[in-house]
Amino acid sequence: MNEKKRRSRPRPDGLISVPPPDKRKFRRLLLKWYARHGRDLPWRKTTNAYHILVSEIMLQQTQVDRVLPKYREWLSKYPTMQDLARAPLPEVTRSWYPLGYNIRPLQLHSIACESVARYGGTLPKDPERLLEFKGIGRYTAGAIRSFAFHEDAPILDTNVRRVLSRIFVVRPNGKNGRNSEALWRLSMDLIPRGRGYDFNQALMDFGATVCTARDPYCLLCPMQDFCKAYPFQANPK
Ligand code: ADE
Repeated sequence: MNEKKRRSRPRPDGLISVPPPDKRKFRRLLLKWYARHGRDLPWRKTTNAYHILVSEIMLQQTQVDRVLPKYREWLSKYPTMQDLARAPLPEVTRSWYPLGYNIRPLQLHSIACESVARYGGTLPKDPERLLEFKGIGRYTAGAIRSFAFHEDAPILDTNVRRVLSRIFVVRPNGKNGRNSEALWRLSMDLIPRGRGYDFNQALMDFGATVCTARDPYCLLCPMQDFCKAYPFQANPK
């Protein structure tokens, strides 16, 4: 197929057209890469929606290695949604230290109170209902649906946005595609049916360890031969 035809970019209708063979290769190679290189993380050993919520809120602004000790400490202090909802706010905020962005423990506490009041301490699967919680946005709803309920739900955070726009949407001048709605759809479209859990965890790890924001490890990347950004990478390592 010639280059012009293969180029994928956001279309005016908000879709990104990616050649189906590239999508299939991406799915296969990402899952294969994850099976070998995926990280062993404690929130991948549970389907407890509260535990996954805690991990996702902590990971929103903080790197995995700083989250790990706090995640364990938090869950031994507040093992359930009810424990957190009962705790006084000043104590909850203190327990968050030294993680920054102190709006997060307040949001977590408010989600716990609402969950106890409306859902008996669990979280709903339904995306509309999840989005009704203050502090749960589209990304967190997708993460909860795929990681706690094993649904094929899309996720799009800074890392996933970077990975997808580099691999599928980069323009010839090297600029990434920024059409958010198109990337949400692509993130959904790429999920292999029934594999949303692994696929989304794999996207996270791939963005954190290979397709990094600065100095990505392109020479180790299994997507080289169809990545739109690879040809523009000045000094691939
Ligand atoms: N960042 C956000 N969610 C994550 C997850 N489940 N695993 C690793 N990093 C993440």
